[in-house]
Amino acid sequence: MTEITAIIGGTGIYALSGMKLRSEIIKTPYADVTVERTDDLVFLHRHAPNHSVPPHRVNYRANIKALDMLGVKRICATFAVGSINPDFELAVPVILSDFIDYSSGREHSFFDTIDQGKGHVDVSVPFCPVLSGALEAEAKKLNLKVRRGGVYASTNGPRFETPAEIRAYRQFGADVVGMTLCPELPLALERGMSYAGFAFSINWGAGMTPSIELVHDGVDAIKDKMLRTMINALKNTKNAECTMAPIH
Ligand code: HPA
Repeated sequence: MTEITAIIGGTGIYALSGMKLRSEIIKTPYADVTVERTDDLVFLHRHAPNHSVPPHRVNYRANIKALDMLGVKRICATFAVGSINPDFELAVPVILSDFIDYSSGREHSFFDTIDQGKGHVDVSVPFCPVLSGALEAEAKKLNLKVRRGGVYASTNGPRFETPAEIRAYRQFGADVVGMTLCPELPLALERGMSYAGFAFSINWGAGMTPSIELVHDGVDAIKDKMLRTMINALKNTKNAECTMAPIH
């Protein structure tokens, strides 16, 4: 049976040019979701086609449910972030290893009633080490400089942070800050999927420069390589033993 995998593209990452994709609308209990796909690869833009939905309004449950209904078990996702660790250069993708959830007020679980189970997902290994390792290996083959390991502070947005918030997140061990990892990743884990995250910084966190300056040039140069890296990583780990979070 063909294994179906998925790429969730964040800000700035749209389907690879030159790929033959067909559009499909998936009707989930939460909303209709449009995806672009081949037979074995689904491309979902987190913010909907044309980037029409801001981070705090993304219907994360609909997006993950749509992938679940398509039979997706493994996801690579991208995130545009701010760097809050001076060692984390702009435009060098980070293969994420952990997160801190500062988001609130979002529909963050599929476990709404106890008859569905208690929904205590074990997030001790949030990102799949097999998929993450494949991202690192495939990036190397394409001469794409990446950093392995980094902690993502997930905020609500849409505003950027204050300098004091950035200092606090840094003290708590975060390396990058963004508005969309949560609840997307925890929801995917609730559906028994394995997930790897590729974050690229487009600015320094608030207070690290006089004002937020978004830098797109360096990122434009690596977007295609990031996509190619994810496609190859998903292809070359087909049938590999990926990490799925236990649910208690
Ligand atoms: N903060 C939060 N989200 C972001 C940032 C940031 O500095 N840059 C890109 N997404």
